[in-house]
Amino acid sequence: LASLNSTLKNGLRQFPDFPQKGILFEDIMPLFADHTLHSTLIQALELKIAQVFHTPPGESSDVDIVVGLESRGFLFGPTLALRLGAGFVPVRKPGKLPGQTIKATFKKEYGEDVFEMQGDAIKKGQKVVIVDDIIATGGSAAAAGELVRTLGGELVGYVFMMELDFLRGREKLDAPVYTLLSGQEEALANTD
Ligand code: PRP
Ligand code: MG
Repeated sequence: LASLNSTLKNGLRQFPDFPQKGILFEDIMPLFADHTLHSTLIQALELKIAQVFHTPPGESSDVDIVVGLESRGFLFGPTLALRLGAGFVPVRKPGKLPGQTIKATFKKEYGEDVFEMQGDAIKKGQKVVIVDDIIATGGSAAAAGELVRTLGGELVGYVFMMELDFLRGREKLDAPVYTLLSGQEEALANTD
């Protein structure tokens, strides 16, 4: 897993002052543009999940639902759900989902944002893993966790490709947090 992770880390690109001054943006898209890196990423996430949830790769876990956060959580949430034998449910930005929905508000770097989920997307007692590309301040992930619990889902953990650990986002989360890579201390937040 360690060598997979360094391959992945080398695939990331950093863009200073994007989308605004002072932000060092971690661009994950090169991992998807290259077939081999993409396979490595999925393999590494699957291994991580297999380790933490004690599931042999390729076998069904007892995870019922993978929840992915719009937008970048959609890049690998469905793939992981297939590998885990679980369903996939999206958490979306507001006004995108039809029918009855529930909402959670969270803080961004400045101002507030809202996440939304369909009210019938998760059944009481289902075991849920939330996935996203990066945890920065933890605001998005905490809001998603609140939505899962409001619907009666059992939040078994969070899986992130990367953690900007100096922002201590995981302190906002009250379920186990698993990450593949961590961001350099000198990096500024990518919360936008
Ligand atoms: C980024 C990133 C995470 C979130 C992390 O998403 O993809 O979802 O910020 O920040 P936080 O831990 O401080 O909440 P962004 O809102 O930029 O949108 P995107 O995924 O649609 O690109
Ligand atoms: Mg995002």
